[in-house]
Amino acid sequence: MSNDDRAPTAPRRDFLGMAVGASATAVAAAIGYPVARFVEPRPMPSSGPTLVGKVEDFALGTGKTVLVDEKPVLLLRSADGHFRAFSAICTHLQCVVGYSAERNQIECPCHKGVYSVEGVNIAGPPPRPLEELVVSVREGSVIVSEA
Ligand code: FES
Repeated sequence: MSNDDRAPTAPRRDFLGMAVGASATAVAAAIGYPVARFVEPRPMPSSGPTLVGKVEDFALGTGKTVLVDEKPVLLLRSADGHFRAFSAICTHLQCVVGYSAERNQIECPCHKGVYSVEGVNIAGPPPRPLEELVVSVREGSVIVSEA
């Protein structure tokens, strides 16, 4: 076989190689996308306002984690009795944050992320503030709902 005999087949091999590669990519995408959609958790629909306790269940100047729609929510009560609620899911890698009364700030134990009591990310890796929820008090009951 001479070099002249091989020359015409090289472009054909390149074309076949690209065609096989493109087909393999298409098959991987066709299989991978439905699998990824199946494995990925679906967002739960909100069940609406949630009663999380009585006012007296939350001492002044404290923070407590409650569940709203099966998700952890950090409910803060300031020294003057004002309530604020934030998603307790860290905006970095989704660890559960907690309130430090000693430092009067919200802290993430995973990578030392720190948020102010206004939910603003002030130190560490969290890229954005915590999501704030709406708190209302009706007839002595504390109710949390999404904004
Ligand atoms: S998960 Fe909270 S700082 Fe990393």
